[in-house]
Amino acid sequence: MENTAIKKKIVLSAIQPTGTPTLGNYLGALKNWKDMSEGEYDCLYAVADLHSLTVRPEPADLRRRTLEMYAILLALGIDPEKNIVFIQSHVPQHAQLSWLLSCCTQFGEAARMTQFKDKSEKHPENVNVGLFTYPILMAADILLYQTDFVPIGEDQKQHLEIARDIAERFNTVYGNTFKLPEPFIGKIGARVKSLQDPTQKMSKSDPNPKGYISMLDEDSVIVKKIKSAVTDSEAKVRYAEGKDGINNLMGIYSCCTGKTYDEIEKEFDGKGYGDFKSAVAEAVVEELRPFKSEFNRLMNDKSYLTKCAEIGAERAGRLAQRTLSKAMKKTGLFQL
Ligand code: TYM
Repeated sequence: MENTAIKKKIVLSAIQPTGTPTLGNYLGALKNWKDMSEGEYDCLYAVADLHSLTVRPEPADLRRRTLEMYAILLALGIDPEKNIVFIQSHVPQHAQLSWLLSCCTQFGEAARMTQFKDKSEKHPENVNVGLFTYPILMAADILLYQTDFVPIGEDQKQHLEIARDIAERFNTVYGNTFKLPEPFIGKIGARVKSLQDPTQKMSKSDPNPKGYISMLDEDSVIVKKIKSAVTDSEAKVRYAEGKDGINNLMGIYSCCTGKTYDEIEKEFDGKGYGDFKSAVAEAVVEELRPFKSEFNRLMNDKSYLTKCAEIGAERAGRLAQRTLSKAMKKTGLFQL
């Protein structure tokens, strides 16, 4: 990665190991990670295990899910030799830079984060400081690698904006240190909605499993969930305001097949929601099929996964150290 003659743009993103990712994670982010990893960019992808400590997972679950999430990234077809795929906590520079950035973040701007407000309302029993400083660690993840593009879903946009604000402030105070990253948000798929309440985002923490499709759901489960998705009484497949359920299914279908909304409307002209749902279900099943078999294969080869994670951490650490050293020096921390 470091030796390429023409410098490619840098892409970084991360995902928390808080359960099997949903179709929302896939269409909003992971599918783009895979597409961007195929040559045009230098990509770094991380399993954000430190971020997931904010919800205090069971230690054994966290350990298992971290490796599973790592396998999921490789099963998508992201090549760990051509890209850097690593586990966040294996690269201590993330936590180190996070402290430097905390001192360049105003309390008020962190308090404005809607995800912090939502999460603390939903879980008043555990409003820990980590939840509050979460976007600062995320800024460190991004800024450490002089990242150009961050492929994310719509819900992470505000966190990207604060990362830019923090970088800008640091650069103003201490001199140019960090590149200002741009979000990369797909036009369709950036906000996949719950199948049961299409006004809410599809989320793996939804207590109703019918609301989300997990990337590892059995084919028959995927079909069942899509067939029971909430729609409306118009019985016409068209993209329009007030048709949240159908709009969501059209978005999913469009992402999986590459068809535009116009093409989808024509395809289902005169047909009912039953036919449409069957087609959406089939498209999702087909989209996830190769991924699922590759995931099962990789999970039987844990030594390969840990070896890749070790190499990924080593390569990420080398790059991260360059930026961290530069930032530490600029702040006036005494250098040996
Ligand atoms: P996380 O783990 O919640 O989600 C991973 C990615 O999936 C996207 N996503 C969705 N996209 C469309 N529709 C949905 N319903 C949907 N649900 C989730 C998210 O936008 C995200 O891109 N804070 C981050 C992880 C993180 C990170 C980073 C991301 C840590 N450090 C640095 C980018 C750069 C998070 O919790 O994502």
